Amino acid sequence: MLKPSGGENKIGHPTEIALGERFEFGENWSRFLAVLDEARIEEAERSLKRMLGLERLSGKRFLDIGSGSGLFSLAARRMGATVHSFDFDPKSVACTQELKRRYCPQEAAWSIEKGSVLDRDYLQSLGKFDVVYSWGVLHHTGAMWQALENAAALVADGGFLFISIYNDQLYKSVLWRKVKQFYCSGPLGKGLTVGFFIPYFVLRGAIFDLLCLKNPLKRYSNYKKERGMARWTDWFDWLGGYPFEVAKPEEIFNFYHQRGYRLQKLKTCGAGLGCNEFVFTKEE
Ligand SMILES: C[S@@+](CC[C@H](N)C(=O)[O-])C[C@H]1O[C@@H](n2cnc3c(N)ncnc32)[C@H](O)[C@@H]1O
Repeated sequence: MLKPSGGENKIGHPTEIALGERFEFGENWSRFLAVLDEARIEEAERSLKRMLGLERLSGKRFLDIGSGSGLFSLAARRMGATVHSFDFDPKSVACTQELKRRYCPQEAAWSIEKGSVLDRDYLQSLGKFDVVYSWGVLHHTGAMWQALENAAALVADGGFLFISIYNDQLYKSVLWRKVKQFYCSGPLGKGLTVGFFIPYFVLRGAIFDLLCLKNPLKRYSNYKKERGMARWTDWFDWLGGYPFEVAKPEEIFNFYHQRGYRLQKLKTCGAGLGCNEFVFTKEE
């Protein structure tokens, strides 16, 4: 139903939502904007610097595929890049526009629009970029391998491709996929999923911290060190984030290695739940 040809999102965002085939990522990001502050922006910048191994991006073209809140576009802009951001969800686009309005409204060096990484005609109109960034996006398109291919085609020779992809946890990933599908199926699915998992996450964290003699509230304030993110937003993103695909680190490595990309940096989540991060460079 979802992808008629070449993995393109032909049925459109509102229809996918109405059919229960997609999570409203942008809705979740709009709540995140309420807690966004300078400390989170600095953490986002730090995460880019750490993974790319660069302090500045001056003179570089940065493409943010699936910009979500817009936080990493803003971080790249503050590091001196010329930024283009796009997202398939109109509310994510609105969030990114809101960040631009708040922090650098007059800047021509940051463009934002609605688009899909599965739309090859759109991608061709963009040209090539020194840094292609797509964190936590390509596994939410419904056609992950096509999206991985399309993203790579946008990297200029010698440029960086920085992506993160959900770790394959085998049967656990199959179960999580069902949870997410159920969440997106309608208000009942959402209510039951949230009603069960959020208290479970809160209690599990509190019991663990108390047993380790730690302040159970610290895990919420410390969470911003995770790329400037907020635990609450991430919980909803995790519970509802559908479509949902996964890959083992070696599958991603082999996929890009065969296409002439060299792995520059890797950050895995071990055998656990979460995303593996990869920075590849495109051979010149
Ligand atoms: C989990 S969020 C990640 C946001 C951001 N990259 C970050 O690191 O915070 C995933 C984003 O991917 C977007 N997305 C999903 N499918 C897409 C597609 N086909 N093309 C572009 N963006 C897409 C969603 O709308 C959502 O905003």
